[in-house]
Amino acid sequence: MFEKTKEVKEGRYGQLDKTVALLFFEPSTRTYGSFDSAAKRMGCKVIGIQDPDTASLKKGESTYDTVRMFVGYGADALVIRHPRAGAPKYVAEAFDVPVINGGDDGHEHPTQAMLDLFTIWEKFGGFEGLKVGIMGDLRYGRTASSLAYGLAKWGVRMRFIAPDLLQIHWRNDRLEEQLREMGADFEKTDQVKLDDLDVLYVTRIQKERFVDETEYKKVKGSFHLGQNSLKGVKNKMIILHPLPRVDELSPDIDRMDHAWYFRQAENGLYVRMALLELILGD
Ligand code: CP
Repeated sequence: MFEKTKEVKEGRYGQLDKTVALLFFEPSTRTYGSFDSAAKRMGCKVIGIQDPDTASLKKGESTYDTVRMFVGYGADALVIRHPRAGAPKYVAEAFDVPVINGGDDGHEHPTQAMLDLFTIWEKFGGFEGLKVGIMGDLRYGRTASSLAYGLAKWGVRMRFIAPDLLQIHWRNDRLEEQLREMGADFEKTDQVKLDDLDVLYVTRIQKERFVDETEYKKVKGSFHLGQNSLKGVKNKMIILHPLPRVDELSPDIDRMDHAWYFRQAENGLYVRMALLELILGD
């Protein structure tokens, strides 16, 4: 996947002449925008729903009926973002069309993990010996979870940095247990210790996923990194963030060499082009 993405980024890719349906039942800037751009660059037609508020979902139409329409309109692949965990899997089982999970509730965001891993690979040329800090909302954040699985597969050491209420042991998808079963090397802490990290992956607190408003108030603003917070970090350390950011990463970091999050977001285009080629190509 990394080599394929590199090829695409260097301009080496073909044309597909297929139809891709982007069905976004939840807001998105990057995932929608990059899949839309990726599909069009690959010569595909794009159909679908960008804004659930303007679709008949608003009138109570089901996910199944909505997807069925776009399969009928000729979709060769579906990209689904959904506020319910497991919805892309349900669609994949219901229809005989390839489905890409574009993010389901606080569960998984696999194409984000692919672009995160590609960005780390691009910077360091591999994963050996790296230590990655994953900081922020590890309880409800789907990107942190998907990345953790990916890093565990590459044997990367991880530090999960979050207040207890946002730590991985509160997730309801057995992430911590599964990481242990995979033999992953990780530690959990509420201390922001960054000096031994090669990558710091920051995430926002997922306000919209909290069931209990008082819990959100307890952790709101737990982390705010500015230039001063980065004193003593390794020169080559990079900061990644799936974006959008709220207040956890100060814009004054954008000027530093450590700031790789916009490059990371741009890599989303190339990773998704590579993925479409692998799924829809000959
Ligand atoms: N990283 C990410 O999924 O961003 P969007 O929610 O804007 O798609």
